[in-house]
Amino acid sequence: MSAVVTESTQVATAGRELRDGAFGHATGLSCRECGHQVELGPHYACPECFGPLEIAYEFPAVTREEIEAGPANIWRYKALLPVPSDIETSPNMEPGFTRLLKANNLGRTLGIDNLWVKDDSTNPTNSFKDRVVACALSAAREFGSSVFACPSTGNLANAVAAAGARAGIKTVVFIPSNLEKPKQINSAIYTDSLVAVNGNYDDVNKLASEIAGEEDGWAFVNVNVRPYYAEGSKTLGYEIAEQLGWRLPDQIVIPVASGSQLTKVHKAFQELIKLGLVEDKPYKVYGAQATGCSPVSVAYKSGVDAIRPVKPDTIAKSLAIGNPADGIYVLDVCRQTGGAVEDITDDEVREAIVLLARTEGIFTETAGGTTVGVLKKLVETGQLDTSLETVVINTGHGLKTLDAVADVVGARATIEPNYAAFRASGVV
Ligand SMILES: Cc1ncc(COP(=O)(O)O)c(C=O)c1O
Ligand SMILES: [Zn+2]
Repeated sequence: MSAVVTESTQVATAGRELRDGAFGHATGLSCRECGHQVELGPHYACPECFGPLEIAYEFPAVTREEIEAGPANIWRYKALLPVPSDIETSPNMEPGFTRLLKANNLGRTLGIDNLWVKDDSTNPTNSFKDRVVACALSAAREFGSSVFACPSTGNLANAVAAAGARAGIKTVVFIPSNLEKPKQINSAIYTDSLVAVNGNYDDVNKLASEIAGEEDGWAFVNVNVRPYYAEGSKTLGYEIAEQLGWRLPDQIVIPVASGSQLTKVHKAFQELIKLGLVEDKPYKVYGAQATGCSPVSVAYKSGVDAIRPVKPDTIAKSLAIGNPADGIYVLDVCRQTGGAVEDITDDEVREAIVLLARTEGIFTETAGGTTVGVLKKLVETGQLDTSLETVVINTGHGLKTLDAVADVVGARATIEPNYAAFRASGVV
């Protein structure tokens, strides 16, 4: 296998030879658009059509027992990821194997018989992004990258900065300057190189691509290392199936920013079927967006295939990508599986954050509020079958977006410290 890859699609590897087995059972990179094959390496765009490259594999015969004997983190699935078999799998900081909670109270409130919450807010930096970053870091190490970087809507920057600190690699993370303060601090605490850019995420992303083309040895996890990074989201799908007792759910609701996570959860389900690890069965995939940044939902509802970019204006800043790289593939997955893409207002996002907290004791950020709120809307509009087993993914922690709900929850009463004042307060 060989291919001509243009200079702009490469991460400099400092003349380094890739180790045998550096990417596990991955056999190459394949263009999602035209199927052109490129050899494994630091490439991300097809040299023929500039379509996105994805990892291709020849998987070994993997058994449930082998996976179950693995560590309680994403590396239990290392045979299905583009990572070396000798990857360090045991440190306590490794992401994954987060809880899958039966959400009976939320289910009862929404009228859904069989509802689960996959709670990814308990990862090391409190979002699902630790999964993708772990895979990107492995690739960056194999490429000998000197800088570990990303453009981010917040959570990714947190995850890159923390993982880089622990790995002892220089990090530089770029965010829109209007990002929530806690998300900024959650990056700056791990790195001295948080760069706030005056612009929205799409501007930050463009800048990152420019820097990647100019600077040698920089691994931008979601730009020039994207094929390796994106595979990390598959572990969410693997875990959900394993935690359900090696079964796929009937319906799943997933937030959409770039759309990478949604398409990779679907890919994971398809791989598990092909490997014989779960029974083949139909399932519906639903995408969730906030109305103030809903280019994929708008395209879905209009019945068109093209995504028209938007300028984001929503409190769900982690989902505020106006020109989503994988938007068209989200449309494909949701349409093919019989699901849908839906969006809700910022007030509905706030209400859903409170609803999840008060029914299940889970404090989610605005992305999770968007997902739970969309689940509610899908039920109310008859787009989701309430008799089927349903999973909703909570991708991040509410402590990072406190401002979103600061005005809708608070002390019920402020009283003097005596019993009479308490009685008079009317709290009980
Ligand atoms: C908490 C959270 N959930 C979901 C997403 C969406 O991920 P994707 O870009 O893969 O669609 C993001 C992206 O930044 C996020 O931070
Ligand atoms: Zn191509």
